[in-house]
Amino acid sequence: MNALQEEILRLKVERRALILAHNYVDSPLQEIADFVGDSLELSQKAAKSDAEVLVVCGVRFMAETAKLLSPDAIVLLPCPDAGCPMADMASGNAVRAARAAMPDATFVAYVNTTADTKAEVDICCTSGNAEKIVSSLPDDKPILFLPDRNLGHNVARKLDRPMNYWSGCCPVHDAVTIEMIENARAAHPGAEVLIHPECRPEVVAAADRALSTGGMLRYVRESESKSFIIATECGILFRLRNENPGKEFFTLQEPIVCRDMKKITLDMVRDALIDLQPRVELSADVAERALNAVRRMIETK
Ligand code: 13P
Ligand code: SF4
Repeated sequence: MNALQEEILRLKVERRALILAHNYVDSPLQEIADFVGDSLELSQKAAKSDAEVLVVCGVRFMAETAKLLSPDAIVLLPCPDAGCPMADMASGNAVRAARAAMPDATFVAYVNTTADTKAEVDICCTSGNAEKIVSSLPDDKPILFLPDRNLGHNVARKLDRPMNYWSGCCPVHDAVTIEMIENARAAHPGAEVLIHPECRPEVVAAADRALSTGGMLRYVRESESKSFIIATECGILFRLRNENPGKEFFTLQEPIVCRDMKKITLDMVRDALIDLQPRVELSADVAERALNAVRRMIETK
Protein backbone atom coordinates (compact mmCIF):
# COMPACT_ATOMS: atom_id res chain seq x y z
CA MET A 1 0.00 0.00 0.00
CA ASN A 2 1.27 3.48 -0.78
CA ALA A 3 0.71 6.54 1.45
CA LEU A 4 -2.37 7.67 -0.48
CA GLN A 5 -3.97 4.24 -0.23
CA GLU A 6 -3.28 4.21 3.52
CA GLU A 7 -4.85 7.66 3.89
CA ILE A 8 -7.97 6.37 2.09
CA LEU A 9 -8.19 3.36 4.40
CA ARG A 10 -8.01 5.69 7.45
CA LEU A 11 -10.70 8.00 6.03
CA LYS A 12 -12.86 5.03 5.18
CA VAL A 13 -12.95 3.97 8.83
CA GLU A 14 -13.63 7.54 10.02
CA ARG A 15 -16.51 7.91 7.57
CA ARG A 16 -17.91 4.39 8.16
CA ALA A 17 -17.70 3.95 4.43
CA LEU A 18 -17.78 0.86 2.26
CA ILE A 19 -15.80 1.01 -0.98
CA LEU A 20 -17.23 -0.98 -3.89
CA ALA A 21 -15.15 -1.38 -7.05
CA HIS A 22 -15.93 -2.89 -10.43
CA ASN A 23 -13.60 -5.55 -11.85
CA TYR A 24 -12.54 -3.10 -14.61
CA VAL A 25 -11.10 -0.23 -12.54
CA ASP A 26 -7.34 0.27 -12.13
CA SER A 27 -5.61 -2.09 -9.72
CA PRO A 28 -4.69 0.50 -7.00
CA LEU A 29 -8.44 1.11 -6.59
CA GLN A 30 -9.21 -2.60 -6.46
CA GLU A 31 -6.58 -2.88 -3.69
CA ILE A 32 -8.32 -0.37 -1.40
CA ALA A 33 -11.86 -1.63 -2.06
CA ASP A 34 -13.84 -3.64 0.49
CA PHE A 35 -15.42 -5.53 -2.34
CA VAL A 36 -14.57 -5.94 -6.03
CA GLY A 37 -17.09 -7.56 -8.36
CA ASP A 38 -19.30 -7.51 -11.44
CA SER A 39 -22.41 -5.34 -11.82
CA LEU A 40 -24.70 -7.94 -10.25
CA GLU A 41 -22.40 -8.58 -7.27
CA LEU A 42 -21.98 -4.83 -6.65
CA SER A 43 -25.75 -4.35 -6.59
CA GLN A 44 -26.16 -7.31 -4.22
CA LYS A 45 -23.54 -5.81 -1.87
CA ALA A 46 -25.23 -2.40 -1.95
CA ALA A 47 -28.60 -4.03 -1.16
CA LYS A 48 -27.19 -5.74 1.93
CA SER A 49 -25.03 -2.87 3.15
CA ASP A 50 -25.79 -0.80 6.22
CA ALA A 51 -22.78 1.49 5.71
CA GLU A 52 -23.43 5.21 6.11
CA VAL A 53 -21.37 5.99 3.03
CA LEU A 54 -20.93 3.94 -0.13
CA VAL A 55 -18.09 4.87 -2.44
CA VAL A 56 -18.53 3.48 -5.94
CA CYS A 57 -15.38 3.02 -7.99
CA GLY A 58 -16.92 2.45 -11.39
CA VAL A 59 -19.31 4.35 -13.63
CA ARG A 60 -22.48 6.34 -12.95
CA PHE A 61 -25.10 3.67 -13.53
CA MET A 62 -23.42 1.50 -10.87
CA ALA A 63 -23.56 4.34 -8.32
CA GLU A 64 -27.20 5.00 -9.20
CA THR A 65 -28.04 1.32 -8.69
CA ALA A 66 -26.27 1.44 -5.30
CA LYS A 67 -28.35 4.50 -4.34
CA LEU A 68 -31.58 2.75 -5.37
CA LEU A 69 -30.74 -0.25 -3.21
CA SER A 70 -29.29 1.65 -0.27
CA PRO A 71 -31.35 4.86 -0.30
CA ASP A 72 -30.39 6.03 3.18
CA ALA A 73 -26.66 5.89 2.50
CA ILE A 74 -24.63 8.76 1.10
CA VAL A 75 -23.52 7.34 -2.26
CA LEU A 76 -20.36 8.90 -3.66
CA LEU A 77 -19.25 8.69 -7.28
CA PRO A 78 -15.73 10.12 -6.97
CA CYS A 79 -15.45 10.80 -10.70
CA PRO A 80 -18.86 12.28 -11.61
CA ASP A 81 -18.27 12.24 -15.36
CA ALA A 82 -17.47 8.52 -15.51
CA GLY A 83 -20.47 7.40 -17.54
CA CYS A 84 -21.29 4.53 -19.85
CA PRO A 85 -21.72 5.39 -23.52
CA MET A 86 -24.10 2.44 -23.92
CA ALA A 87 -26.34 3.74 -21.10
CA ASP A 88 -26.59 7.05 -22.98
CA MET A 89 -28.00 5.23 -26.03
CA ALA A 90 -31.43 4.68 -24.43
CA SER A 91 -32.86 7.79 -22.73
CA GLY A 92 -35.92 7.59 -20.48
CA ASN A 93 -37.90 9.64 -23.03
CA ALA A 94 -37.00 7.34 -25.92
CA VAL A 95 -37.99 4.26 -23.90
CA ARG A 96 -41.28 5.87 -22.90
CA ALA A 97 -42.04 6.48 -26.57
CA ALA A 98 -41.16 2.86 -27.41
CA ARG A 99 -43.56 1.66 -24.71
CA ALA A 100 -46.36 3.67 -26.21
CA ALA A 101 -45.61 1.96 -29.54
CA MET A 102 -45.39 -1.55 -28.00
CA PRO A 103 -47.93 -1.52 -25.16
CA ASP A 104 -48.05 -5.33 -24.84
CA ALA A 105 -44.31 -5.92 -24.60
CA THR A 106 -42.27 -6.69 -21.51
CA PHE A 107 -39.38 -4.21 -21.37
CA VAL A 108 -36.10 -5.64 -20.06
CA ALA A 109 -33.26 -3.21 -19.35
CA TYR A 110 -29.65 -4.18 -18.91
CA VAL A 111 -28.39 -2.50 -15.71
CA ASN A 112 -26.12 -0.43 -17.94
CA THR A 113 -28.89 2.21 -18.12
CA THR A 114 -29.63 5.43 -16.27
CA ALA A 115 -32.12 5.44 -13.38
CA ASP A 116 -34.43 7.52 -15.64
CA THR A 117 -34.50 4.65 -18.11
CA LYS A 118 -34.87 1.94 -15.45
CA ALA A 119 -37.93 3.85 -14.26
CA GLU A 120 -39.60 3.10 -17.62
CA VAL A 121 -39.07 -0.68 -17.78
CA ASP A 122 -40.52 -3.83 -16.21
CA ILE A 123 -37.35 -5.57 -15.07
CA CYS A 124 -33.57 -5.21 -15.17
CA CYS A 125 -30.84 -7.76 -15.81
CA THR A 126 -27.06 -7.90 -15.80
CA SER A 127 -24.76 -9.93 -18.02
CA GLY A 128 -24.51 -12.37 -15.09
CA ASN A 129 -28.24 -13.13 -14.87
CA ALA A 130 -29.73 -12.11 -18.26
CA GLU A 131 -30.59 -15.69 -19.28
CA LYS A 132 -32.32 -16.40 -15.97
CA ILE A 133 -34.30 -13.13 -16.14
CA VAL A 134 -35.45 -13.60 -19.73
CA SER A 135 -36.39 -17.24 -19.01
CA SER A 136 -38.56 -16.09 -16.11
CA LEU A 137 -40.77 -13.90 -18.33
CA PRO A 138 -44.16 -15.03 -19.66
CA ASP A 139 -43.77 -16.39 -23.19
CA ASP A 140 -47.10 -15.10 -24.45
CA LYS A 141 -45.82 -11.51 -24.56
CA PRO A 142 -43.12 -10.01 -26.80
CA ILE A 143 -39.93 -8.78 -25.12
CA LEU A 144 -38.04 -5.59 -25.87
CA PHE A 145 -34.45 -5.92 -24.70
CA LEU A 146 -32.49 -2.69 -24.23
CA PRO A 147 -30.07 -1.04 -24.78
CA ASP A 148 -27.49 -3.72 -25.72
CA ARG A 149 -28.42 -5.45 -28.99
CA ASN A 150 -25.39 -7.75 -28.67
CA LEU A 151 -26.23 -9.03 -25.20
CA GLY A 152 -29.87 -9.35 -26.33
CA HIS A 153 -28.96 -11.42 -29.38
CA ASN A 154 -26.56 -13.59 -27.38
CA VAL A 155 -29.22 -14.34 -24.77
CA ALA A 156 -31.89 -14.99 -27.42
CA ARG A 157 -29.59 -17.41 -29.24
CA LYS A 158 -28.76 -19.29 -26.04
CA LEU A 159 -32.43 -19.57 -25.00
CA ASP A 160 -33.77 -19.97 -28.53
CA ARG A 161 -36.21 -17.19 -27.74
CA PRO A 162 -36.58 -14.34 -30.24
CA MET A 163 -36.81 -10.82 -28.82
CA ASN A 164 -37.00 -7.26 -30.09
CA TYR A 165 -33.81 -5.27 -29.61
CA TRP A 166 -32.79 -1.69 -29.03
CA SER A 167 -29.92 -0.65 -31.27
CA GLY A 168 -27.38 0.24 -28.55
CA CYS A 169 -24.07 -1.43 -27.82
CA CYS A 170 -20.90 -1.07 -25.76
CA PRO A 171 -18.48 0.66 -28.15
CA VAL A 172 -15.44 -1.10 -26.73
CA HIS A 173 -16.86 -4.64 -26.81
CA ASP A 174 -18.65 -4.09 -30.13
CA ALA A 175 -15.29 -3.28 -31.73
CA VAL A 176 -13.91 -6.79 -31.09
CA THR A 177 -13.70 -8.81 -34.33
CA ILE A 178 -13.41 -12.50 -35.25
CA GLU A 179 -9.98 -11.72 -36.69
CA MET A 180 -8.79 -10.40 -33.31
CA ILE A 181 -9.90 -13.64 -31.66
CA GLU A 182 -8.20 -15.76 -34.33
CA ASN A 183 -4.97 -13.76 -34.06
CA ALA A 184 -4.95 -14.23 -30.28
CA ARG A 185 -5.52 -17.99 -30.69
CA ALA A 186 -2.62 -18.16 -33.16
CA ALA A 187 -0.36 -16.26 -30.73
CA HIS A 188 -1.34 -18.44 -27.73
CA PRO A 189 -2.18 -21.92 -28.99
CA GLY A 190 -4.30 -24.01 -26.62
CA ALA A 191 -5.50 -21.07 -24.51
CA GLU A 192 -9.24 -20.96 -23.80
CA VAL A 193 -10.97 -17.83 -25.08
CA LEU A 194 -13.35 -16.17 -22.61
CA ILE A 195 -15.43 -13.32 -24.00
CA HIS A 196 -17.95 -10.85 -22.61
CA PRO A 197 -21.52 -11.17 -24.01
CA GLU A 198 -21.48 -7.46 -24.90
CA CYS A 199 -19.45 -8.57 -27.95
CA ARG A 200 -21.15 -9.27 -31.29
CA PRO A 201 -22.86 -12.69 -31.60
CA GLU A 202 -20.60 -13.86 -34.45
CA VAL A 203 -17.53 -12.93 -32.38
CA VAL A 204 -18.94 -14.68 -29.31
CA ALA A 205 -19.42 -17.77 -31.50
CA ALA A 206 -15.69 -17.65 -32.35
CA ALA A 207 -14.75 -17.74 -28.63
CA ASP A 208 -15.05 -20.68 -26.22
CA ARG A 209 -17.28 -19.19 -23.51
CA ALA A 210 -19.28 -15.99 -22.98
CA LEU A 211 -19.35 -14.90 -19.34
CA SER A 212 -19.91 -11.81 -17.20
CA THR A 213 -16.76 -10.55 -15.49
CA GLY A 214 -17.78 -12.32 -12.26
CA GLY A 215 -18.54 -15.44 -14.30
CA MET A 216 -15.04 -15.36 -15.80
CA LEU A 217 -13.45 -15.20 -12.36
CA ARG A 218 -15.48 -18.18 -11.14
CA TYR A 219 -14.95 -20.18 -14.31
CA VAL A 220 -11.17 -19.74 -14.31
CA ARG A 221 -10.93 -20.73 -10.63
CA GLU A 222 -12.63 -24.05 -11.34
CA SER A 223 -11.27 -24.79 -14.82
CA GLU A 224 -8.58 -27.41 -15.48
CA SER A 225 -7.14 -25.20 -18.25
CA LYS A 226 -3.88 -23.44 -17.58
CA SER A 227 -4.07 -20.55 -20.04
CA PHE A 228 -6.77 -18.12 -21.09
CA ILE A 229 -7.30 -15.33 -23.61
CA ILE A 230 -9.51 -12.70 -22.00
CA ALA A 231 -11.72 -10.75 -24.41
CA THR A 232 -13.05 -8.06 -22.10
CA GLU A 233 -11.82 -4.89 -20.42
CA CYS A 234 -8.22 -5.34 -19.30
CA GLY A 235 -8.81 -4.22 -15.67
CA ILE A 236 -10.05 -7.73 -14.88
CA LEU A 237 -6.57 -9.15 -15.51
CA PHE A 238 -5.45 -7.89 -12.09
CA ARG A 239 -7.83 -10.18 -10.19
CA LEU A 240 -7.46 -13.08 -12.60
CA ARG A 241 -3.67 -13.10 -12.15
CA ASN A 242 -3.75 -12.47 -8.40
CA GLU A 243 -6.30 -15.18 -7.69
CA ASN A 244 -4.85 -17.79 -10.05
CA PRO A 245 -1.06 -17.73 -9.68
CA GLY A 246 -0.55 -21.03 -11.53
CA LYS A 247 -2.43 -19.91 -14.65
CA GLU A 248 -1.55 -17.66 -17.56
CA PHE A 249 -3.69 -14.85 -18.96
CA PHE A 250 -3.42 -13.04 -22.27
CA THR A 251 -5.29 -10.07 -23.70
CA LEU A 252 -6.12 -9.64 -27.37
CA GLN A 253 -3.19 -8.18 -29.28
CA GLU A 254 -4.64 -4.71 -28.55
CA PRO A 255 -6.03 -4.82 -24.97
CA ILE A 256 -9.67 -3.73 -24.57
CA VAL A 257 -9.90 -0.49 -22.57
CA CYS A 258 -13.03 1.35 -21.36
CA ARG A 259 -12.01 5.00 -20.98
CA ASP A 260 -14.79 5.72 -18.52
CA MET A 261 -13.75 2.90 -16.20
CA LYS A 262 -10.24 4.35 -16.20
CA LYS A 263 -11.29 7.90 -15.25
CA ILE A 264 -11.41 7.35 -11.49
CA THR A 265 -8.19 7.82 -9.49
CA LEU A 266 -7.07 7.35 -5.89
CA ASP A 267 -6.92 11.16 -5.44
CA MET A 268 -10.58 11.39 -6.40
CA VAL A 269 -11.53 8.72 -3.85
CA ARG A 270 -9.54 10.47 -1.10
CA ASP A 271 -11.16 13.84 -1.90
CA ALA A 272 -14.64 12.29 -2.06
CA LEU A 273 -14.17 10.78 1.40
CA ILE A 274 -12.98 14.12 2.81
CA ASP A 275 -15.74 16.26 1.20
CA LEU A 276 -18.49 13.60 1.11
CA GLN A 277 -19.03 14.78 -2.46
CA PRO A 278 -19.85 14.26 -5.33
CA ARG A 279 -23.04 12.47 -4.28
CA VAL A 280 -25.56 10.62 -6.37
CA GLU A 281 -29.09 11.91 -5.81
CA LEU A 282 -32.26 10.65 -7.48
CA SER A 283 -35.73 12.16 -7.49
CA ALA A 284 -38.21 10.23 -5.33
CA ASP A 285 -40.47 9.41 -8.28
CA VAL A 286 -37.68 8.07 -10.51
CA ALA A 287 -36.12 6.18 -7.61
CA GLU A 288 -39.36 4.43 -6.71
CA ARG A 289 -40.08 3.26 -10.26
CA ALA A 290 -36.48 2.33 -11.08
CA LEU A 291 -36.17 0.39 -7.82
CA ASN A 292 -39.17 -1.76 -8.80
CA ALA A 293 -37.33 -2.94 -11.92
CA VAL A 294 -34.08 -3.59 -10.03
CA ARG A 295 -35.84 -5.30 -7.12
CA ARG A 296 -37.75 -7.54 -9.50
CA MET A 297 -34.39 -8.61 -10.96
CA ILE A 298 -32.86 -9.32 -7.55
CA GLU A 299 -35.91 -11.28 -6.40
CA THR A 300 -36.13 -13.47 -9.53
CA LYS A 301 -35.19 -17.01 -8.51
P1 13P B 1 -20.26 -7.17 -15.75
O1 13P B 1 -19.16 -6.86 -14.81
O2 13P B 1 -21.56 -7.22 -15.05
O3 13P B 1 -19.97 -8.39 -16.56
O4 13P B 1 -20.42 -5.93 -16.75
C1 13P B 1 -19.49 -5.46 -17.60
C2 13P B 1 -19.66 -4.05 -17.94
O5 13P B 1 -19.46 -3.65 -19.04
C3 13P B 1 -19.99 -3.13 -16.93
O6 13P B 1 -20.10 -1.93 -17.52
FE1 SF4 C 1 -20.17 0.92 -20.62
FE2 SF4 C 1 -18.79 -0.73 -22.19
FE3 SF4 C 1 -17.49 0.77 -20.44
FE4 SF4 C 1 -19.02 -1.26 -19.59
S1 SF4 C 1 -17.16 -1.42 -20.80
S2 SF4 C 1 -18.95 0.82 -18.75
S3 SF4 C 1 -20.65 -1.20 -21.11
S4 SF4 C 1 -18.69 1.50 -22.20
